[in-house]
Amino acid sequence: MQIYMKEDDFIVSKTDLKGRITYGNEIFIQMSGYSEQELLGAPHNILRHEDMPALVFKLLWERIKNKHAINAYVKNRCKNGDFYWVFANVTPSFDKSSNPIGYYSVRRKPEPKALEVIEPIYKALLDAQKRGGIAESEKLLHETLHKEGVTYDEFIINLQK
Ligand SMILES: Cc1cc2nc3c(=O)[nH]c(=O)nc-3n(C[C@H](O)[C@H](O)[C@H](O)COP(=O)(O)O)c2cc1C
Repeated sequence: MQIYMKEDDFIVSKTDLKGRITYGNEIFIQMSGYSEQELLGAPHNILRHEDMPALVFKLLWERIKNKHAINAYVKNRCKNGDFYWVFANVTPSFDKSSNPIGYYSVRRKPEPKALEVIEPIYKALLDAQKRGGIAESEKLLHETLHKEGVTYDEFIINLQK
C-alpha cells in the first residue's frame, strides 16, 4: 500500500561516507516502519524499493562523491512492504578543512504531477536495465533528456515546480 508524506513534513537522514545511517528524524523513523535502533548503522539501501532503477543511485553517488548536491525522486520501501515517494535533496557535509564527513538528505512530498511523469520513466529505465544493464538505462535517460532539451537537474526541478 502506498503511504504519503504530509504537505509540510521533512524527512531527514544523515549517513557516513559509506551510506550507513547515522541520524534520522522522527518522521524518517516513523515512515520507514523500522525502529531507530534498526536504522542507525544500517546501510541506507535498507529502504531500497525494487522498482527503483539502479541508475538513479549511480547518479546520486557520482554527484555527492564529487562534492555536489543532487535532487531525485525516490520510491522507498517500508519495513512492512508499504512504499512512499519522496523528492530528495542529497548533499555532502564537510568539516572545517572542506573534507567530506558524510551525507545529508532532506525530503519533501513530491508533486503528484511530477510522479505521473517520473513513474513511467523509471519503469522504462528499469526495463532497459533488465535488458542491457545500467549502460542501456543510461542511454535511455540521455535520449529522454535530449528530446526535452534539458539537463537532468532542469528536468527534475521543473517537475517539482
Ligand atoms: C544521504 C543518503 C540518503 C539516501 N537515501 C536513500 C533512500 O531514502 N532510499 C534509497 O533507496 N536509497 C537511499 N540512498 C542510496 C543508498 O545508499 C543506495 O545507494 C541505494 O539504496 C541503492 O542500493 P544498492 O546500491 O545497494 O542497490 C541514500 C544515500 C545517501 C548518501
